[in-house]
Amino acid sequence: RNMEDYGLFLALLGSALLVGFVSVVFSLVWVFSYREGLGWDGGFAEFNWHPVLIVTGFVFIQGIAIIVYRLPWTWKCSKLLMKFIHAGLNTIAMILAIVSMVAVFDYHNARSIPNMYSLHSWIGLTAVIFYSVQLFLGFAIFLLPFAPVPLRAALMPIHVYSGLLIFVTVIAAALMGITEKLLFALNSTVYSTSPPEAIFVNCLGLLIVIFGALILWMASRPHWKRPPEENAKVQQPNGGAPEGMEAESTMTDCSNADKSDVGFNSEAARKRNFKLDEAGQRSTM
Ligand code: HEM
Ligand code: HEM
Repeated sequence: RNMEDYGLFLALLGSALLVGFVSVVFSLVWVFSYREGLGWDGGFAEFNWHPVLIVTGFVFIQGIAIIVYRLPWTWKCSKLLMKFIHAGLNTIAMILAIVSMVAVFDYHNARSIPNMYSLHSWIGLTAVIFYSVQLFLGFAIFLLPFAPVPLRAALMPIHVYSGLLIFVTVIAAALMGITEKLLFALNSTVYSTSPPEAIFVNCLGLLIVIFGALILWMASRPHWKRPPEENAKVQQPNGGAPEGMEAESTMTDCSNADKSDVGFNSEAARKRNFKLDEAGQRSTM
């Protein structure tokens, strides 16, 4: 059962990477073959950075950041290293989202188009603001060494919930933005005749939904979670180390060098994880 399950995980991961990558390619094909390309001139070419950077950073990179802890071959890496990767990918996504915001606002101001009038912009800006709060709190609580363990454990379920909620909100905002842009660029009479651009960009919207669905599925399977750290279990011999409870081990590499002091090994860790899961002792969300 474990091997089948591992195969399923790999299939979903491969599909998510493919669908996410194709979404990025679609956004580029859209702006280059149907629109004005990319530029920083206060015109449409500057606006076009907005969808491209959103799909690349806020959708694709954020989605990957959310599931990095779940890659089974990283379970032998230190938790600290995985936190750096999770936080680093989310930081890259944040930077790309901010640049994409600068692009739309700058384009609007250069053309004297009003700001923040649409539901799309309200939901979108709200998502960006909550995302920056999530990123800041993530660093402050889970990466820096100051927060006490009970606080980490208490906040982890909220971190997971708010992270997934923001991800879903970003996808909703992207769909609204795509619809708006098609209506503006084609106007509704042309849009309703299903021209090639509309068909193509509708497909981009579908791909984004499929990508989100795959990420949410992987991130919500309890038995695909990274096993709790071994040293945390020493402190809590009854199993179920609460989330955020794990002590850091000092190594940051992923080598299989001698780790016998903690008896840490990814296959054993995985088995332990399955056992705990079956015993219903862990709650992911
Ligand atoms: C405008 C955010 C995705 C199309 C805006 C504005 C914000 C925003 C805050 C307002 C700019 C202003 O008032 O000057 C976001 C966020 C997204 C996202 C957070 C992440 C999901 C997209 C996508 C498209 C798009 C994928 C597709 C082309 C537009 C259009 C406008 C716009 C056409 C101008 C009209 C308006 O203000 O609603 N976006 N956007 N957006 N966005 Fe997005
Ligand atoms: C887990 C989202 C930033 C630390 C998670 C999960 C999500 C998430 C959805 C659940 C993953 C899973 O169940 O496998 C986000 C978002 C962030 C962000 C959207 C940025 C806006 C950070 C930062 C840190 C951090 C900066 C600091 C290192 C963690 C930790 C876990 C986690 C320790 C638990 C992983 C585990 O034990 O399985 N995050 N996160 N997060 N995140 Fe974040």
